[in-house]
Amino acid sequence: MRARGLLITIDGPAGAGKSTIAKRLAASLGYLYLDTGAMYRSVALAAKRKGISFQDEEALARLAREMDLRLEPSGDGVRVLLEGEDVSEAIRTPEIDRLSSLVAQVPGVRAALSARQKELGQEGGVVAEGRDMGSFVFPEADLKFFLTATPEVRAKRRLAQLESKGLKADYEKILADIVERDKRDRERKIAPLVVPEGAIVIDTSDKTPQEVLELLLNHVKGKLHD
Ligand code: DC
Repeated sequence: MRARGLLITIDGPAGAGKSTIAKRLAASLGYLYLDTGAMYRSVALAAKRKGISFQDEEALARLAREMDLRLEPSGDGVRVLLEGEDVSEAIRTPEIDRLSSLVAQVPGVRAALSARQKELGQEGGVVAEGRDMGSFVFPEADLKFFLTATPEVRAKRRLAQLESKGLKADYEKILADIVERDKRDRERKIAPLVVPEGAIVIDTSDKTPQEVLELLLNHVKGKLHD
């Protein structure tokens, strides 16, 4: 056992339900929720604000190494502080969806963020959520999950999420974006989205978040009683 508890990873494509489940799982175990997507999103937001070109890999990597980024537990999730400013909402727009997927392809950005993630996660007591948690950043994790769902279900979830924030959204456009983002995440040369070795795969298409959470908790209990 690690110093602070199990190291649990949750990977999968956008809209598979990872964030909802990772937050709830971390809360029910009293673990830290490590939202690594928020880190890629923060690099994208910081680059946009600074006017850094998304072609300039050197500058993006430097930004990822040097920016002041903190993830603080808050309520039922995490508060993202970029240079001290709460950007939790600002990083969750369709534009940042797209730009974060671009910065996630830059090797220097991945190296910088992976190093930060390892530091935060290695003592355990963590639910690490992302695309390469179980495959690349924490191959030694105690328990690995891979959540998935059909593109149509994922697009509907995203639509509901945007609408609940009062943002205008179009289902067909969201679906097309999801398909394009999946392709980019799966085909990139470095740390592509794959089912990590040893991961438990769960299709959440026909399941409620509560059902998925219970499935995961059963696996966790099994692991804790090993
Ligand atoms: O999970 P999310 O939608 O917040 O992630 C934002 C982007 O960052 C998405 O394009 C995938 C990418 N990402 C990644 O490449 N590796 C991670 N560990 C987490 C996110």
